[in-house]
Amino acid sequence: MDDVLIVGGGTIGLATGFELLRRDVPVTLFDRGRAGRGTSWQAAGMLAPDAEIQFEELDLYGLSRESLRRWPDFAADVEAAAGMEVDYRDDGTLIVADDRDSAEKLRRLYAFQREQGLEVEWLTGEEAREIEPFVAPKLSAAIHAPSDHQVDNRRLVEALREAFRKEGGMLHEETPVASVQPDADRPAVVTEAGERVEGRRVVVAAGVWSRQIDGLEAAQPSVRPVKGQMVQLRMQGAFALDHVVRGPEAYLAPKSDGRLVIGATSEEQGFDTSVTAGGLFDILEGAWEVVPGIRELPVDETWAGLRPASRDHAPLLGAADAPGVVMATGHYRHGVLLTPVTAQEIARLVCTGETSPWLEPFSPMRFQTTVS
Ligand code: GLY
Repeated sequence: MDDVLIVGGGTIGLATGFELLRRDVPVTLFDRGRAGRGTSWQAAGMLAPDAEIQFEELDLYGLSRESLRRWPDFAADVEAAAGMEVDYRDDGTLIVADDRDSAEKLRRLYAFQREQGLEVEWLTGEEAREIEPFVAPKLSAAIHAPSDHQVDNRRLVEALREAFRKEGGMLHEETPVASVQPDADRPAVVTEAGERVEGRRVVVAAGVWSRQIDGLEAAQPSVRPVKGQMVQLRMQGAFALDHVVRGPEAYLAPKSDGRLVIGATSEEQGFDTSVTAGGLFDILEGAWEVVPGIRELPVDETWAGLRPASRDHAPLLGAADAPGVVMATGHYRHGVLLTPVTAQEIARLVCTGETSPWLEPFSPMRFQTTVS
């Protein structure tokens, strides 16, 4: 059987390959660098549909909830295949407000969450401190979202890479793909080094780099980078956080190995990944407003990641308007969260030709209509 060719070895590409291999479909994956060291490495690993829901994104919210539902089994499968742990944590998220304006916004979010049937809990600032003692005494209110979880995204991509290889996947790293040649039976990829490889399907999972692939013409995915600057502190001494804390201007995601990942700016700067004083100042100030104890913590690392954003900020999932080509890209802020549902439903599409109801609202062809 011909291989499925996957372009892009982030969490989406690796997991899609993993799911295909487990269905006995051979896979060859191309990554422009080391697999998993792009956007997936630079993320925070929050699995947080309840905290990140936007009022107008109901389809995406449904997809996110479904993916979260699949996460525990998916994590267990990856861990078993790789022999590595991914630090899946179900401690929940605290969404906090620190002034009248942000408390009002929180109130509206809470009303909406309740309308959606979520088991979220409204807390006073004092009640929030009872479950997370390091949040600021001045907090006016908080929502506890127990069903928002998190994973250590760096462990995840390392485990996925290992699982992919152990299941028999062919991994070509440091191998950028220049173009895709669509064809109903034998689509192909051509690497920047000029090698042409044919397969039975091509899955484009190249995140922000998806748009740079030639040969797709009208099917070229409209994905742009949205920069997010991040800082990682080291939790030490008496300082500890159990929950992800989301303030009005920053979030803090504690990992079990003592890292505290704080993010993130949201900037339209193309492929620029410079870390700026202003960017760091903004997120550190935002984090310090809601968890003042971070002031004493040492800085481990700073970086800027690039979120792959489509025009409507929802992913592009399913058959492209190019024969033999499938899209799994444009996951914007939700790539890690949406990994299980994307990988499993894209694998199903490749194996059976059927688009599942989960993927239908996210067809890559949805932008091709024009107003007459
Ligand atoms: N999902 C977190 C972020 O995009 O910053």
